[in-house]
Amino acid sequence: MISSTLFNLASIASVAFAAADCTGINAVAPQCVSQEALHYRDFFYIGGRYVAGAAGNLTYDQLYVEKLTPAAGVNQSKPVVLFHGGGTSGVTWLNTPDNRKGFASHLLDYGYQVYIVDQTSVGRGSAENLNDYVMRIGSTAEITEKGFTAPELTNAYPQSQQHTQWPGSGVKGDPVFDAFESTFIPLTSNLTVQELSMRSSGCQLLSLIGPSFLISHSIGALHPLLLSNDCPSLVAGNINLEPGNIPFQSYVGNTTSSVGRTSARPWGMTNTHVTYEPAISNSSELTYELVGDDTPAKRSCYMQTGTIHKLTEIAKVKYVALTGSASPHITYEHCVIDFLEQAGVATEWIKLADKGITGNGHFGYLEKNSPQIAGVVHEWVQSNC
Ligand SMILES: *[C@@H]1O[C@H](CO)[C@@H](O)[C@H](O)[C@H]1NC(C)=O
Ligand SMILES: *[C@@H]1O[C@H](CO)[C@@H](O)[C@H](O)[C@H]1NC(C)=O
Ligand SMILES: *[C@@H]1O[C@H](CO)[C@@H](O)[C@H](O)[C@H]1NC(C)=O
Ligand SMILES: *[C@@H]1O[C@H](CO)[C@@H](O)[C@H](O)[C@H]1NC(C)=O
Ligand SMILES: *[C@@H]1O[C@H](CO)[C@@H](O)[C@H](O)[C@H]1NC(C)=O
Repeated sequence: MISSTLFNLASIASVAFAAADCTGINAVAPQCVSQEALHYRDFFYIGGRYVAGAAGNLTYDQLYVEKLTPAAGVNQSKPVVLFHGGGTSGVTWLNTPDNRKGFASHLLDYGYQVYIVDQTSVGRGSAENLNDYVMRIGSTAEITEKGFTAPELTNAYPQSQQHTQWPGSGVKGDPVFDAFESTFIPLTSNLTVQELSMRSSGCQLLSLIGPSFLISHSIGALHPLLLSNDCPSLVAGNINLEPGNIPFQSYVGNTTSSVGRTSARPWGMTNTHVTYEPAISNSSELTYELVGDDTPAKRSCYMQTGTIHKLTEIAKVKYVALTGSASPHITYEHCVIDFLEQAGVATEWIKLADKGITGNGHFGYLEKNSPQIAGVVHEWVQSNC
């Protein structure tokens, strides 16, 4: 009697579930089942300091860290730490905008201990000192469409025509686009102060959790590189999805024209001091020049000239970049690889198309084939741990 009642309830429920649309924000409804890997969650604030103010002591610069533990147990020897890109926050690694399993869950499924940070001043990170952390807008819908979700519509670079993996139309009004665009929040325009706080809290985090693989997206790639410089023995590998810290310059909008470029990162790939040999105390001691042809499909790059300074600490950590075949980064990611190689850092560049993974834009880890990209990251960790 009891079991037949349960059976009947279960079949009624499954009919109701089958009817429900659980894509995108619809999945907020109670009857929608989570797609995430089973895990436990804890959070911590790491680092920071007290600063005395008139009203009392405030905490500044602490780093928000979420610890996700697979329910089935951890079976990988080293943790992974995820660093989001500009304009987003740690939520970017959770369920995707169309509500499929997120990148963090794929790593949990592989048996990793996963840590997710919100960069200092962003999201749940601290930015009490707003005088230094001048905030600016994240990504507008128009920037997102052109740069990330529908670059094929404006054809700013030839490879954009191969973009097929974004779920949905990728333009404003599409529910998946709207859910994605809503994840953009303000970011700081002062990367100097942010780099300094991330360096101090980041190495403190690693000293608490032990040597870890650092996985970044886009401009989040600043941080694994800085931690590789400051505490290399605690970084097992430096894995960068579409690194955004292109040497000495930023590309904005249509990179076909020189108007789309601004000078950036005076220390090469960072805004703050990193160790070079021969040693320098001022970034102005680095000399560099633009090299290579400049076409819409392949951009010219800054390389050191004269005395070549080596990144001796960063070189202690293995570096890999992963790039999508239809992303704007496929036109300039070689600049990162060539600069690091010249500075004595052993690098690998995985062009996802070479692994048969095609059609990805800048946010590949959210796109339809994201499980395959997680597979490439897992494979790299396995062969480097
Ligand atoms: C802030 O902390 C310092 C050091 O503990 C203390 O001397 C000071 O009185 C505190 N400031 C206020 C306003 O309570
Ligand atoms: C770890 O666990 C996952 C999930 O059960 C499994 O797929 C994977 O093969 C395991 N890896 C190792 C190294 O034991
Ligand atoms: C970018 O600039 C090139 C050359 O000026 C032009 O052909 C192309 O249409 C531009 N694309 C966009 C998206 O503005
Ligand atoms: C950026 O932060 C640094 C370090 O805290 C500070 O010295 C500088 O004044 C800030 N710059 C701006 C433009 O706010
Ligand atoms: C670094 O060098 C530049 C150019 O010589 C100079 O203007 C600047 O003041 C120097 N910075 C520091 C911190 O010494």
